[in-house]
Amino acid sequence: MTAVPSFAAYVVIGNPIAHSKSPDIHARFAAATGQDMEYARLLAPLDGFVATVREFVAQGGRGANVTVPFKLEAYALASKLTARAKAAGAVNTLKFDGDEILGDNTDGVGLVNDIVLNAGFDLAHKKILLLGAGGAARGVLLPLLECRPAQLTIANRTTAKVLELVQQFQQYNVGARTLSACGFAEVQQQYDLVINATSASLQAELPPISASAFGPATLAYDMMYGAQPTVFMQFAAAHGAQVRDGLGMLVEQAAESFFVWRGVRPHTDAVFAALRAQL
Ligand code: ATR
Repeated sequence: MTAVPSFAAYVVIGNPIAHSKSPDIHARFAAATGQDMEYARLLAPLDGFVATVREFVAQGGRGANVTVPFKLEAYALASKLTARAKAAGAVNTLKFDGDEILGDNTDGVGLVNDIVLNAGFDLAHKKILLLGAGGAARGVLLPLLECRPAQLTIANRTTAKVLELVQQFQQYNVGARTLSACGFAEVQQQYDLVINATSASLQAELPPISASAFGPATLAYDMMYGAQPTVFMQFAAAHGAQVRDGLGMLVEQAAESFFVWRGVRPHTDAVFAALRAQL
């Protein structure tokens, strides 16, 4: 058995990377849990992800978070994948142990923990609408299904993409009574939870979603976050929904990565509050 050294090196790898809040989050987790670890930003050239990782490992690196645009390359690089990384088809967490490179994906459990534990919103037997069929949506599908919702509907602008995603995920449908695809125009009924996993908020755009999806009992969750509510959150709130942005998901996915590496689960409340105050 290899003992975990008292000092270990971790990084977040991406391009660009200067904006990443991960070093701040992990420094706070390390201080709160008494873990002696260093966590830095690592900029990889767009054509040099694998070489950058290998050099980091050669220097004694123990683990890495992986962000845009390298999550698919990290998936391909891993010598062993967790079930949730396989389902996501992408890796945001690498753990280096001898010759082994473990690839994991903590985004989905980060979302679920923020909704269930932090927002106190139980997902079992609920009707969930997931907006978007890209990497962000795919990354959270398995953990959502494992919460056993009554219904999980995925709506997307490009119908072919959402049909393919739903077909791929029928094999993972351990929980939802129905997992189905639709176009935005077909969204008619009210949902308990509506999650915006499109990238529309990045352009301050609103997915073309009917107001009928929202009501006072609806939680509208945007995976994006910022100092101001996103247009999606503003629209949902105007139609009576409770709203939440993705800052908690960011902190919770980091906590899960920290647990994967260090075997210690940090509390997230104080870190969440500190990050919110900095926005
Ligand atoms: P990500 O990794 O963030 O999911 P992606 O794989 O490029 O990025 O997927 C972006 C998602 O946002 C897609 O579902 C996209 O819809 P299409 O599949 O039709 O392209 C969705 N999207 C982006 N801008 C949107 C907008 N203005 N309205 C609705 N959906 C939008």
